[in-house]
Amino acid sequence: MNGYVAPAIHYAETGFIVAENQYQYRADLLQQLEGKTNFAQYFGAMKAGENFKQPELADTLKRIAAQGPNDFYQGKTAQLLVAEMQRGKGLITMEDLAAYRAGWREALVTPWQDKQLISAPPPSSGGIALAQLLGLKQRRSSDFHGVTHNSSQYVHLIAELEKRVYADRAEYLGDPGFVKVPQQQLLDSNYLDQRAKEINPLNISATKAIKPGLEGYHTTHFSILDKHGNAVSNTYTLNLDFGSGVVVQGAGFLLNNEMDDFSAKPGVPNVFGVVGNDANAIAPGKRMLSSMTPSLLVKDNQVELVVGTPGGSTIITSIFQVITNLFDFDMPLQQAVAAARFHHQLLPKDQITMEPYSPLSAEVQQQLKKKGYKLHTQGWNLGDVQAIQVTATTVKAAADPRSRGVAKVIQY
Ligand code: DON
Repeated sequence: MNGYVAPAIHYAETGFIVAENQYQYRADLLQQLEGKTNFAQYFGAMKAGENFKQPELADTLKRIAAQGPNDFYQGKTAQLLVAEMQRGKGLITMEDLAAYRAGWREALVTPWQDKQLISAPPPSSGGIALAQLLGLKQRRSSDFHGVTHNSSQYVHLIAELEKRVYADRAEYLGDPGFVKVPQQQLLDSNYLDQRAKEINPLNISATKAIKPGLEGYHTTHFSILDKHGNAVSNTYTLNLDFGSGVVVQGAGFLLNNEMDDFSAKPGVPNVFGVVGNDANAIAPGKRMLSSMTPSLLVKDNQVELVVGTPGGSTIITSIFQVITNLFDFDMPLQQAVAAARFHHQLLPKDQITMEPYSPLSAEVQQQLKKKGYKLHTQGWNLGDVQAIQVTATTVKAAADPRSRGVAKVIQY
């Protein structure tokens, strides 16, 4: 049996203690689903602070440990999954599963300041968008001179960068197996120079005028660094909390609702309010456009930062803000992760999204409104960042105070 799966089998079999917010997400989904799926049958008994077991999932993991991917794509687990599809009038067949291949992708590597940024390539938009944001901010650094962190001018300048980056995301990004993603052009230094020139440091650029620049709920993140300096930045997703709320009967695992990351129709926003065109339209076998941005900053072959977060389309701007907090504002890691965040993604027009955890100050909100922005506080926080920073003398780890992640540095 493959020993790597043993800890997961252990927790599925003997259970784990349910956290308060996990229980709350479950309660919200139960209410929303109104009994339309088998979610209650599997998760109805879950209680905060009590042990929760998943025996069918334990059996599934045991099969996978013993038989590897074959079980999932062609064996008993595949049969259970397809049976669940048929019960729910889903589309996935045994042939689809047998034909599925996990893709190996080259990481996106770009220079930033005196470092290398290593992040997620398409079909995530995260790496390209983060590299654009960092590149644009660097090019407009004189505008940021003397601008206080999270002041209204700061929020405005960042929103100006973000609206352009999300305009490119909507137009160009999608599964590279289906569309030609112009990655090099989007990160090209001359292109970013041009794009940076469009930014209006004083007033909101009209949303309608922001064109793509070239011609023409619960995810999990962990960051790890070992004693040798090897790093893993891993974000993985079912899309929203508990995915579609459908459990594969007999196999005990949830089906995701990742289809929402496709653009269902040109210009129609998904659950995160982001829009897209043909590049991210649905097609058989195509992968949807993600925003996941698991990232590393590396200098002279040494990892300086391991970082990532959940948060749908706000993942990109959360990671961007943490990096700028660290390297442009010299904040200590924990402060950089904890600092109030905000978000702008082209649409809704001129909307700055804030978070319940730490809204912008009343004064900054007032100034932004005067400028013409609409302020919106969404029901959930902007991300749940997990970060590790390595300096010449120390290793620091920080878990976002917005949620219940834990950061630990273990001494050898
Ligand atoms: O891949 C994506 O961009 C989305 N499926 C991520 C969803 C997410 O982060 C929800 N969690 N808060």
